[in-house]
Amino acid sequence: MPRSARPLLSLLLAACAGPRGAADDESGPAWQDTTSAADTTGTSGITDAAVTYHRDIKPILDAKCVPCHVDRAIAPLALTTYEQARPFAETIAIATRSGTMPPWPPAADCREYLDDRSLSAEQLATLQTWQELGAPAGDPADAPPPPPPPDPIAPDIELQLAYPYRPVQAPDEHRCFLLTWPRDQVSFVTALDLAPGEPRLVQRAIAYLIAPADVDAYRALDEADPDLGYPCFGGPGPGGAGPQPWLGAWTPGGTGGALPAGTGVRVEPGSLIALQIHYRPRADVDADQSRLRLRTAPDVEHPAVVLPFTDPNWVTGLSPMLIPAGEPDVAHDYALDIAGVLPLLYPDGPFVPGGSFVIRAAALHQHRLGTRSALAVVRGGGETDCILEIPRWDLDWQGSYALREPVPVAPGDQLRLACHWDNSIAHQPVVDGAPQAPRDVLWGEGASDEMCLGLLYITAD
Ligand code: HEC
Repeated sequence: MPRSARPLLSLLLAACAGPRGAADDESGPAWQDTTSAADTTGTSGITDAAVTYHRDIKPILDAKCVPCHVDRAIAPLALTTYEQARPFAETIAIATRSGTMPPWPPAADCREYLDDRSLSAEQLATLQTWQELGAPAGDPADAPPPPPPPDPIAPDIELQLAYPYRPVQAPDEHRCFLLTWPRDQVSFVTALDLAPGEPRLVQRAIAYLIAPADVDAYRALDEADPDLGYPCFGGPGPGGAGPQPWLGAWTPGGTGGALPAGTGVRVEPGSLIALQIHYRPRADVDADQSRLRLRTAPDVEHPAVVLPFTDPNWVTGLSPMLIPAGEPDVAHDYALDIAGVLPLLYPDGPFVPGGSFVIRAAALHQHRLGTRSALAVVRGGGETDCILEIPRWDLDWQGSYALREPVPVAPGDQLRLACHWDNSIAHQPVVDGAPQAPRDVLWGEGASDEMCLGLLYITAD
């Protein structure tokens, strides 16, 4: 692991003296057109009379919706019974047709991921037909058995907030809590998830790994705020610390939480975990005392690192990531042949000079002005492999996606990152009922700064 973010940055800086990324390719990734999904109605082969709640709808809701739509969770309605689902048949049809539900940001034509939450064209059509038929119940005897609960991760470490924290900053509060890593020997995290203390408040959580050399700087941040934890937005760090690696991300309804089989992230004794929680404060719910649960192993077959990938010149300001005030579509991109740099970035890591590496999971990160972003591998031969594409960026639903098939990257291949932002008046945060005036925006950790960051979960083989 990098000893701190600073050497990582300066090494990347040195490494990027090489050729810059290809120019932004407007004809490149086809951003997903979610409206086309509605055209599938009628082509699924389902005869109208056949669609009933018990036989056809309940299995879809149980698998794709109920993980979030239960009582006392962040989603506003429970969808576990016919009585609960029936009055919402039309809202369900609209929300699924528009693509807002279930929340699944990756573009469908980029790549396949594990734990895909999206609906198939047939499931989507079935929900539409059910609504058109007047939401018939059917025969409870037709209902298939309920799905098995997701595999528990069997944690051997549980780290809880020291005491309940009460979020107050509506509608969104981002707060970081420091958790002391309890092991005094190197170990590998192989699975992680969150047990939210108050599920109605917790919209999302990201666990960041803080290397021993950075611990003092983070403790100082924590101590500067009298309450538990400290406010944080784009990352957990002191301003200018550069991007920190994620250990993992959690969203409501998250399934399992295991990292790809055989892999794990090395954690040094003396490290910290900065747990960033995105709260949705509510008047009727008080405080949260969430627990991060981790499974560890003394060793793993494929040691992994989480590589924060961005243009270091954006971070330092040497070549500013300027998003001019008023512009409706600003694009920045960056590409680098990173295979050769990995042994320098991770001296204790598994990478060898001249070797290739394997991408096993990926995430993208922007802030509020972001509209879309993409990560790809541009092969030495010129062809492009899409890794992750978020066609409609939504900060609330950012997550990490495990690739169904790992993607090898060889020396000579370029990793390419591209982001778009809308900094027009129509896309500004509303304060006291009026949109704020657009202003020039640069890279930064604050809520009114922006980022364009890829996070890659990689192994040597
Ligand atoms: C990952 C969690 C999650 C999953 C999975 C999920 N929802 Fe939601 N849903 C939410 C949340 C949270 C809201 C509240 C609005 C928001 O925050 O976006 C919501 C809101 C809704 C609403 C209210 C109207 C709207 O569009 O805001 C409907 C209807 C809905 N969901 C239906 C569904 C259906 C049907 C499925 C499955 C096909 C589903 N949801 C899957 C979390 C989820």
